[in-house]
Amino acid sequence: MSQAQALRAVEPLQEHGEFLADVLHGLQAEPKTLSPKYFYDSKGSQYFDEICGLSEYYPYHTELELLPQVAHDLTRQFNPPGGLEIVEFGAGSLRKVGILLRALKKVRSFTAIDICREHLVESCRVLESQYRELTINPCVHDFTKPLTLIDTERTRLGFFPGSTIGNLNRDEAREFLRNAGKTLGPSSYLLIGVDTKKPEPILHRAYNDARGVTARFNKNILTRINRELDGKFIPEQFAHHAFYNEEKGRVEMHLRSLKAQTVEVAGHRFFFERGESIHTENSYKYRPAEFSALAKQAGWETKRLWLGKEDLFSISLLRHVD
Ligand SMILES: C[S@@+](CC[C@H](N)C(=O)[O-])C[C@H]1O[C@@H](n2cnc3c(N)ncnc32)[C@H](O)[C@@H]1O
Repeated sequence: MSQAQALRAVEPLQEHGEFLADVLHGLQAEPKTLSPKYFYDSKGSQYFDEICGLSEYYPYHTELELLPQVAHDLTRQFNPPGGLEIVEFGAGSLRKVGILLRALKKVRSFTAIDICREHLVESCRVLESQYRELTINPCVHDFTKPLTLIDTERTRLGFFPGSTIGNLNRDEAREFLRNAGKTLGPSSYLLIGVDTKKPEPILHRAYNDARGVTARFNKNILTRINRELDGKFIPEQFAHHAFYNEEKGRVEMHLRSLKAQTVEVAGHRFFFERGESIHTENSYKYRPAEFSALAKQAGWETKRLWLGKEDLFSISLLRHVD
């Protein structure tokens, strides 16, 4: 385990739950890791919304610009007599689904799934004030785990924008897609936004913005650990580090220790060498054919593909192979 070892055995207390267990496990691992799903407390969700407003963050703008065309094309495909239910995974601020709701007149209900309760409740409240006829079901859930929805006669259209699937490795992405197929049921569809492979400078800028918002988003995970798990991280003693790993086809985000230090979390001590990092996020990039092959392995057939300007982002319509 070299010097990067926990100085006490990891025995998570039951009441601290999964977050504590995952953090202790991740900080004991070599290299140290934290799951990106823990970025999203309410402050982290606000930071993410701020990232979406940055000119460098092309995934958000490109997908948003592409969606009206996608929605227009879908109006011809989705006219099921019993109506439609949209189910969004990793719902966030719900700005993108509005484009679908305005175009697809037969949507009767909308289920929004997100891990961050506060942000989900607020986003659904805003949506409700705009779509009074729509039944909205907020669902606080970790989408990496199976979920059973209440039976419906309506055709289900899953929606997974933002290339959030890129945060999962290949095996996890396949598992997510298989689970989504079970959640959405037979004859369902999934509209999914996936970031494409592109020249490194564009990727670098997107994850290293000039105003340092992405750096604050990344470091917020330490602040959250301090607040919720009695952590003693000093965020200023860690630096945001994001780069494109071409061999693995992913942007990696890390928090790099600026000095040799020992940090306590819930009474457990973790040693960091100077320059040692915590790997906090991967964002996998896919060529359209790569993604379509992965989806096929998980039981989804690609019915249609849209590419955003300069092929910066893709949206695929998948149909579940029953
Ligand atoms: C990259 S943001 C995308 C937000 C929005 N869908 C968009 O496209 O702009 C990821 C969203 O997924 C949520 N999220 C991340 N991991 C999750 C998980 N394991 N289960 C459920 N929601 C998750 C976050 O809270 C956040 O709202």
